[in-house]
Amino acid sequence: MAGQDKIKILILDDEKQFTEELIGFFQGSEYDAYEANSETEGKLILQNHEIDLMILDVRLPGVNGLDILKEVKAHYPVMEVIIISAHGDMDTVIKAMRLGAFDYLRKPFRYVDIQIAIERTQKYLQMQRRLKRIEERNSLISKSLEEKIDRQFIGISAQIKEVFELAMTAADYPDSNVLITGESGTGKENIARIIHYASKRKDNAFFTVNSSAITESLLESEFFGHKKGSFTGAVNDKLGFFEVCNGGTLFLDEIADMPLTLQSKILRAAEEKVITRVGDTRQIRTDFRIISASNHNIRKQVEKKKFRLDLLHRLNTLHIHIPPLRERPEDIKPLLTYFIDFYATKFNKPKLHVSREVIDGLQNYDFPGNVRELRNMTERAIILCKGNLLGINNFPVQQQTISLTESEMESVDLKMNEIYLIRKALDRSGNNQQAAADALGIHRDALSRKMKKYGIRIDRSEL
Ligand SMILES: Nc1ncnc2c1ncn2[C@@H]1O[C@H](COP(=O)(O)OP(=O)(O)OP(=O)(O)O)[C@@H](O)[C@H]1O
Ligand SMILES: [Mg+2]
Repeated sequence: MAGQDKIKILILDDEKQFTEELIGFFQGSEYDAYEANSETEGKLILQNHEIDLMILDVRLPGVNGLDILKEVKAHYPVMEVIIISAHGDMDTVIKAMRLGAFDYLRKPFRYVDIQIAIERTQKYLQMQRRLKRIEERNSLISKSLEEKIDRQFIGISAQIKEVFELAMTAADYPDSNVLITGESGTGKENIARIIHYASKRKDNAFFTVNSSAITESLLESEFFGHKKGSFTGAVNDKLGFFEVCNGGTLFLDEIADMPLTLQSKILRAAEEKVITRVGDTRQIRTDFRIISASNHNIRKQVEKKKFRLDLLHRLNTLHIHIPPLRERPEDIKPLLTYFIDFYATKFNKPKLHVSREVIDGLQNYDFPGNVRELRNMTERAIILCKGNLLGINNFPVQQQTISLTESEMESVDLKMNEIYLIRKALDRSGNNQQAAADALGIHRDALSRKMKKYGIRIDRSEL
């Protein structure tokens, strides 16, 4: 529809006095009105303005108004037409309605009649517009989902082959819970999706929940659902995650952050496969599998009494650990090739080659943000690349190279390493958080969250 809200109306009638009168009537109203006294004039206006509604006299000299109606409905399918017919010409009215006219007015008519007809059309047009927006949004969502559902798992290293084999075993045992650990960006969610889509649960939901992203007060009702009226704001019955995932997979991301109060409830649900909605007493059976992921050392969380040991045991029937990319440098080249192909296709670039220097440079880089960092880096390189050769200047990693000292390498504590890498990235970027997040291959918000969590502060005096 044209403009934001003003509806554009075209009045096509051979009687100039009539069209002028109507234009006068619409002056100062919420409509933009145009007049035409011949078919040619009308078509010109249609071409130059995005008309939403046409008021068409079907009795024009020399032409059959119904033919015009047919033509404009074919050319401008979203435009609506109200026809004006002579009194008693019911036959034409019926034909016009069959051809897609929205409404009709019989001459002579009162202004109030036309006002009502236009208002009715306007409501319809607004509904159409809203529907279109919803459809557009949905197609955007499904597009981004499609991109997210990246079911390729690339790698030739022995470690990654083992990860893949374990994932296939997990797919064969669709009722066993799986715990996936690994640093940020190593592909935990990716593997979780692969397990789901390779298992017999594939036709049901794969649902990701990041418990650190939901407010604590809502967590229980999000997981278990609620009965209408069980608390302020519970205006309808609502299914919780466990029910949504019936037959499918519930992917619990960042489980180490799950509040203790919820952990015992999740444990019970995971053991009994029976849940009760908040505010209800009915027990509902639901068949889900939990795949959980964490980039923390959960054992440490258990020691600190922040994570229940019994829940950990329940969740890690199968345990898959994805090693960081720097521990499997032979995967860098195949991953790079894969991402280059992916982005070159996406951005319509010619076939791109990579210089040896790039591979060497990347293989000596530590990749604190792991595969995600490599992926983002490749996307940026391809966008900025002018010719068909990707050189080291397109991959500015050398300056950023972060190498761990030997004693630091000995520390296998993920959290300590994360803190170390965040500090290092901030240091190198002169405390520019965006640049540090880019270097780590994570989103700036994720960096802020981590900094807050670990109490990492930027000394303002250094800025
Ligand atoms: N082996 C792989 N092959 C292809 N793409 C991969 C691989 N590993 C990771 N990726 C890609 O890297 C990006 C990050 O992966 P993913 O989101 O699964 O990481 P994660 O371990 O869940 O990270 P975080 O802990 O930050 O949530 C995704 O775009 C994913 O598709
Ligand atoms: Mg993830």
